Amino acid sequence: MLTCPLVSTIPTLRLFGILLLVVSLNAHNKSWDRPICTEGIMSVLRGNPAVMTCNISNAFTDVTIQLTAHGKEDRTIFKKKPQGNFSWSGWELQVQGGQAQLVIKDTQDDHTGIYLWQLHGRQKYYRNITLNISEPSNEDKVTDRRLFTPSPDPVKSSLLEDKPGTLVGVIIVVLVLGVIGIIIFVCYRHRRS
Ligand SMILES: *[C@@H]1O[C@H](CO)[C@@H](O)[C@H](O)[C@H]1NC(C)=O
Ligand SMILES: *[C@@H]1O[C@H](CO)[C@@H](O)[C@H](O)[C@H]1NC(C)=O
Ligand SMILES: *[C@@H]1O[C@H](CO)[C@@H](O)[C@H](O)[C@H]1NC(C)=O
Ligand SMILES: *[C@@H]1O[C@H](CO)[C@@H](O)[C@H](O)[C@H]1NC(C)=O
Repeated sequence: MLTCPLVSTIPTLRLFGILLLVVSLNAHNKSWDRPICTEGIMSVLRGNPAVMTCNISNAFTDVTIQLTAHGKEDRTIFKKKPQGNFSWSGWELQVQGGQAQLVIKDTQDDHTGIYLWQLHGRQKYYRNITLNISEPSNEDKVTDRRLFTPSPDPVKSSLLEDKPGTLVGVIIVVLVLGVIGIIIFVCYRHRRS
């Protein structure tokens, strides 16, 4: 036998109002990162510096960079780096506020490939930047040392956005509305019987 759990509908409505307020505040406070990164393909002469940057409007939580090169296993160059300066095997990463910068001071063939940036601020984003290294034109007649050039078609930035705040908010509202509907329905039938 079901008993009506509501003494009055007023406290329920108040609770519902508070829940809605919390959900909408949470949703409105999620500002977007809007990442802007070095575009597409970078071409750099061997031995010269290469700089790639990604800027967002909030501070970075962490930055991960992976390098995919032809005929080589994917390498994770930097993994979940927070704010600060990091250096590994010729790559230097500086994460400062909403700016992340990858510097290669002396580019070599080993540095060519597609750099996949995983940017984590308030949301998560993925960006590709291709680094192509060219021979200095006035020297170097070595022909057996082949240059790897990545895929000729321009690499489009890929964008995967997490929208946890908004989605969770919508799910909570739907659940709360459903539960309240069921309670009101049960109470209504209970009173009539
Ligand atoms: C948004 O949330 C952050 C914590 O996630 C808080 O520090 C900030 O004050 C909030 N901003 C507004 C406008 O509520
Ligand atoms: C990121 O911001 C820095 C400093 O404001 C600027 O020098 C750089 O060009 C920006 N990068 C991009 C890809 O817009
Ligand atoms: C990181 O390096 C830059 C210059 O290379 C410097 O201005 C900055 O203070 C350094 N940050 C930290 C946290 O060491
Ligand atoms: C890479 O550089 C070489 C010159 O060394 C050029 O022929 C090739 O088209 C470049 N590849 C891309 C994808 O830009």
